[in-house]
This record gives sequence, structure tokens and C-alpha cells, in this order.
Amino acid sequence: PTINYILKDGSRRSVDARLGTSVMENAVRGNVRGIDAECGGSCSCATCHVYVDDAFFERLPPPDEMENELLDGVASERLPGSRLSCQLTVTADLDGLVVHVPEAQS
Ligand code: FES
Repeated sequence: PTINYILKDGSRRSVDARLGTSVMENAVRGNVRGIDAECGGSCSCATCHVYVDDAFFERLPPPDEMENELLDGVASERLPGSRLSCQLTVTADLDGLVVHVPEAQS
């Protein structure tokens, strides 16, 4: 599946993602700037924050309690589409996923 990351300057980076990996891991592998992921995916740093595009938001399982709490502490404003990308698993259904990289992660 393809994941499209919209960077802060408005440019788009598309990464050919592997099923079962996280949206964060594919950003790191694809050298997408602006997704820091300091904790390496253990849901404790909140520096992998992304804004999921409306068209895809409803296809995602809702955040669990831990992610929800961390989302309250993200560096950029928490918006309805806010998620932690390390908690988003790539499925075939998410092909074409669009996520926006926030202004700041810390
Ligand atoms: Fe740290 Fe997602 S990588 S919370």
C-alpha cells in the first residue's frame, strides 16, 4: 500500500509501505522529515504525531487509552484527525492513506 505524507512545506512524499508495519516505521524508512519518533514506537513520546486526512480517518480503529492520553500532550495543536503514527498499522484498506506532518513534534 502507498502512504502519502504531506510535509510542512506542502510537498508530498509517497512511501511504498509494508503490510503490518506502522505508519511511523514507513516514515522513518522513507526519510520523511518531521516525524521524530523518539521512543521508537513504544507509544511514550508523542513525537510521531500526524494529522490523518478526513477520507481515511474513519477507517482507522480508534486510539486506545494510552494513545489518547499522549495525544493530549502533543507539541502541535491536537485536532480531530490527530493520531500517533506508531499506533497506526498499515493494512490493504489504507492504500493511498494521506497523513499531514504537524508543524512541530517537541
Ligand atoms: Fe513514540 Fe509513537 S514513536 S509515541
